[in-house]
Amino acid sequence: MQEWFKQAKLGIFIHYGIYAVKGVSESWSFHNGGISFEDYYSQMDGFTAQNFDADKWAELFQKSGAKYVVMTTKHHDGVALWDTKCSDLNVVKGTPAKRDIVKEYTEAVRSHGMKVGLYFSLIDWSREDYRSVYPAGWPIGDRNPFATPGYGEERPELWAQFLKLNDAQITELMTQYGKIDLLWFDGDWERSADQWKMGKFKELLLSLNPDVICNSRMQGYGDYATPEQGIPVVAPEGPWEFCITLNDSWGYRGRDHHHKSTRQVIRMLCECITMGGNMLLDVGPKEDGTIIPEQEQVLLELGEWIRENEEAIYDTEKGLNYAFFQGGSALSPDHKTLYLFVYDKPNEFVCIKGLKTRIRRASILHSGQEIRWDITGGAPWNGIPGLTWIFIPEELLHPMVTVVKLELDAPIELYAEAGAVISQN
Ligand code: GLC
Repeated sequence: MQEWFKQAKLGIFIHYGIYAVKGVSESWSFHNGGISFEDYYSQMDGFTAQNFDADKWAELFQKSGAKYVVMTTKHHDGVALWDTKCSDLNVVKGTPAKRDIVKEYTEAVRSHGMKVGLYFSLIDWSREDYRSVYPAGWPIGDRNPFATPGYGEERPELWAQFLKLNDAQITELMTQYGKIDLLWFDGDWERSADQWKMGKFKELLLSLNPDVICNSRMQGYGDYATPEQGIPVVAPEGPWEFCITLNDSWGYRGRDHHHKSTRQVIRMLCECITMGGNMLLDVGPKEDGTIIPEQEQVLLELGEWIRENEEAIYDTEKGLNYAFFQGGSALSPDHKTLYLFVYDKPNEFVCIKGLKTRIRRASILHSGQEIRWDITGGAPWNGIPGLTWIFIPEELLHPMVTVVKLELDAPIELYAEAGAVISQN
């Protein structure tokens, strides 16, 4: 995995598309029958992007503390946000916007010093050549009007044609918009790796940019896992990124006011860092390209908190298992500094179990204020540490999440056993 991805910790996800016109769910609304196919695509006529300012977006995302951004270039509805020569279903030809959103987006994100990510749906429910074969393992005749050929015969030649379109579009995206750092595929589940010819597809991607990072939704060919909406309780294996919406919707939906608070978003970020993952936080801009104030505000407040506690965020590794500390944490790369994420108001102190390494200094990160600690019990001469108590006066707490910095004498060592009789006193 590329070093930049491990250190990024926070990315911004953008679901921008014609679905914002009526404020319906991205692609799924017609797939699930909430709106007719015709009505859904009639949103093309209302997609103006008239206030879309990619630099403004990038400035906001940079302020949020994000190190990379991933935007939907094409969702399952097949509508391309760039000037694709492969299909007329794109916002340059088919909407009043008449703008290459991907071009403006990639330039702005790059010029603000963030890594450029593109979301690309493998599924395309708009096309007949897509619904030409059955998803591997689905019974023939199990009809899904958008994903299968219905009761008819499979048409492998049409499927081959569709795969060519995907190859051609991804090639456009990777060759016409500068260096693409990350590709975020979606919808792999409707076909098998064999049907997607995923091995060859991955080869194509790497031939266009050997450094590109790909998410996992490639039927086994991806580089990192993408748990979605539900934060992992145990860390996924290997590199990972938790994607999550700011309210309950990926794209803009005017009626959805169920936003997470800044404190909740910070908590989720800390949980990801503790378990060694990144968080990809989603915004859903309106059709005109504006980001609603509720979402903007959370991003700005998140960024403020990150700036105050930066040392514990980017250049850190996963923290302690919750058995040692009942809160979040992160470690410096040399393992000589332990950062504790204190979420709750401590009742006088927080406690670390099993810490064998001596603490040299304890302080509150955002203010630099030194704090007191004490160790009780244990039999260090027998290799059994006592309990470490870190005292945190309430007036020193950060209103969001407090980070305690513990500077250690040596790289951290922990005792992770069941205790023992002390045979030497
Ligand atoms: C999903 C959905 C989708 C959304 C995405 C983001 O699986 O199909 O609409 O774009 O994941 O993670």
